[in-house]
Amino acid sequence: MVGTKIDGNVIAQSVKDRVKKAVEELKTQGINPCLATILIGNNPASATYVKNKHKACEEVGIITKDHKLDANTTQSQLDEIIKNLNNDSAVHGILVQLPLPQQLDEFATTSRISPLKDVDGLTPHNAGLLAMNKAILVACTPSGVMEMFEYHGIDLNGKNVVLINRSNLVGKPLYHLLLQKNATVLTCHSKTKNLTQLCQSADIIITAVGDRNKFTLTPEMIKEGAVVIDVAISRFQEKLVGDSDYDKIIQKASFATPVPGGVGPMTVAMLLKNTITATSLSTQIGR
Ligand code: GUN
Repeated sequence: MVGTKIDGNVIAQSVKDRVKKAVEELKTQGINPCLATILIGNNPASATYVKNKHKACEEVGIITKDHKLDANTTQSQLDEIIKNLNNDSAVHGILVQLPLPQQLDEFATTSRISPLKDVDGLTPHNAGLLAMNKAILVACTPSGVMEMFEYHGIDLNGKNVVLINRSNLVGKPLYHLLLQKNATVLTCHSKTKNLTQLCQSADIIITAVGDRNKFTLTPEMIKEGAVVIDVAISRFQEKLVGDSDYDKIIQKASFATPVPGGVGPMTVAMLLKNTITATSLSTQIGR
């Protein structure tokens, strides 16, 4: 069996088309959606991600405010910038690109973002709402994965899902989103025993390890007709790769995502969507 490619570029474009219409509608009301990004330090991958986010904003008419900070920025300097953006009524969404340099605390930083402007869904407020089935702003990569299931009509009801990631940005939000769709979710990580057997019994595998020296999801590890969502992206042997080789996995899977061109474009598209949601939230409250 050769499965169907889940094409992130195509699905992301359909999200972007909807966002563009929403932006046009907001502009007729005199509202100009604006996303502020904060990039700290010189991580080249992070710089590329932020550049792509700005480009996508421009495509749909969202204004951006770019903050590039020195690698030695202190916590109090960063806190001050976030405070000013929280208080700036022309800014609707705030994104602090992760990871942060080591002198900065990720939890302390993201917690300071106003929950109404939290386009990453990382504040305790928004993470808590998600866990209570009341989410408004959800982390972009997990909501992008859910959009892919929706687009292809992949039913999650009663499905066994193996999730290989437990981070705040990917694994934990996905766990809640999948559970809300009545999937049975097993969250695996570096200490999980018998991962191969667990994968072999899964209807759906969502993998986000991002280190080929530690982990590769091979066709032998999946059952015939499984759905494979590869969230990882890393450089390995001079190439950008996920946790699996798409060309091999698709021979056995019913659906699979390539890398690049799979989940990556969805993360950016959902950021645009969240910026519109955040714009509606803060402009409603401001009235
Ligand atoms: N670093 C990698 N992915 C993300 C993301 O979705 N949001 C932020 N803020 N940083 C990231």
